[in-house]
Amino acid sequence: MANNTVVNDKNRVIIFDTTLRDGEQSPGAAMNLEEKLRIATVLEELGVDVIEAGFPVSSAGDFQAVNEVAKLIKNSTICGLARAAKMDIERAAEALKPAARKRIHIFLSTSPLHMKYKLQKEPEQVLQAVIDAVSFARNLSDDVEWSAEDGSRSEPDFLCRCVEAAIKAGASTINIPDTVGYTTPDEYGALFKMLINRVPNADQATFSVHCHNDLGLAVANSLSGVINGARQVECTINGLGERAGNAALEEIAMALKVRNDRMPFTTGINTEVITRASRLVSGITGFAVQPNKAIVGANAFAHESGVHQDGMLKNRETYEIMTPASVGLSKSSLKLGKLSGRNAFRSKLKELGYELGDNALEDAFKRFKDLADKKRDVFDDDIIALVDDEVANMAARIKFLGLEIYAGSKGPQRAELELEFDGRVHKVTATGNGPVDATFNAIKQIIPHEATLLLYQVHAVTQGTDAQAEVTVRLEENGRTVNGQGADPDTLVASARAYIHGLTKLMIKRDKKAPDNMTLISNG
Ligand code: KIV
Ligand code: ZN
Repeated sequence: MANNTVVNDKNRVIIFDTTLRDGEQSPGAAMNLEEKLRIATVLEELGVDVIEAGFPVSSAGDFQAVNEVAKLIKNSTICGLARAAKMDIERAAEALKPAARKRIHIFLSTSPLHMKYKLQKEPEQVLQAVIDAVSFARNLSDDVEWSAEDGSRSEPDFLCRCVEAAIKAGASTINIPDTVGYTTPDEYGALFKMLINRVPNADQATFSVHCHNDLGLAVANSLSGVINGARQVECTINGLGERAGNAALEEIAMALKVRNDRMPFTTGINTEVITRASRLVSGITGFAVQPNKAIVGANAFAHESGVHQDGMLKNRETYEIMTPASVGLSKSSLKLGKLSGRNAFRSKLKELGYELGDNALEDAFKRFKDLADKKRDVFDDDIIALVDDEVANMAARIKFLGLEIYAGSKGPQRAELELEFDGRVHKVTATGNGPVDATFNAIKQIIPHEATLLLYQVHAVTQGTDAQAEVTVRLEENGRTVNGQGADPDTLVASARAYIHGLTKLMIKRDKKAPDNMTLISNG
């Protein structure tokens, strides 16, 4: 079944993913267009009903991202965020034009604190602004959502009046965010029960939860909202989002699936795509998933203690409440060795969800052969790392040709680097405070830049000392932040690739600088 936000089953929960909007608002999680399109594609495969692709008025980049996602995605509704202002709503509608299904999402605060200090408006003015904005948006889209920002701290009578007015003006989804992550499951659940009972036209809209995780309660609060009548959950992959993040999509989907006996609700999520989606988002943003994170942490299905292992061998259910396969985690040890051909490689990529064009496939195949020469077992994760790196580097003007390192306790550490930059081959030598520093200094000689390194992170893709290293760097230049990734069995080569990838992105950003009159509006 194609996803459709008009879902008739009364127990079907709409999954609204905001990784590309609220998730991207995490400091340091900025993504470029190509990365957003890759994430949108995996969200569609995951079966997400609504993809919030950005906040079109906030920048030219956000506008373009929403517009391109709207062109690319066919099965999910594409949503654009807007403040309760004509210009915002018009920009959102414009960006969403190519979408097969589109939604305009308007937000306006209703809590006494926000109305007084942030909006500096009287409650009656806010009520009128909700009516005006929703009515205006309904002329541009049949599907309009209104969010009562800071809804969980709003005064109940006023919130009821706003919700009723928004539905009357044409909003078909009413979202009550816990913007500051302050509520508790019983309180949030009671709020939905109250609204659904008291608002006379409540049956004409879908109620939605949107929870932040400041007290670690985002998933519990979201589920409590659902138990009490909400039928849309706004969430993000890996719980990415402002401050402590949003409710994690994978936890919501698996909680509803595994505890369907207590929560008899369904989603359209294909849970077997969860692991791939999680890895893609953490790879692109550089936000590593903590090992003990529910569902997608590296240890989520690992059984270390002897007692547990013994129980598992006797009966898996002694210590496992869901299978690794149900979240798309395969312990595959596929040995696509040196002798594997292009067809086997292409089939494996397809199985892992990648379809590359002929040139990209050829490049990836060459790198796979190099890897198989150096590494005994090539796991699925190795191939994913290799292909992600390949796809990410497609636009690169810089080609990595070779790196020799002189390291050890005596120092100074030295790097000899060979790169092709804009068609010219450069060979340089640099020293540094350690081999990574020497490598980055060598790159700087060839590609002069003012970027500051904000983060350097190494992650072993699989187990064993011959595992590929996946390196993430975060670079900042003139207020712009990018993440670069590189993977290789040699950590220093992976580091060089990651740094080059980051610099390439900065160069692309420089080339596509947003018009100066577009400024970013910050929101919750
Ligand atoms: O947290 C929040 O209130 C939001 C709104 C813009 C929906 O993200
Ligand atoms: Zn939010």
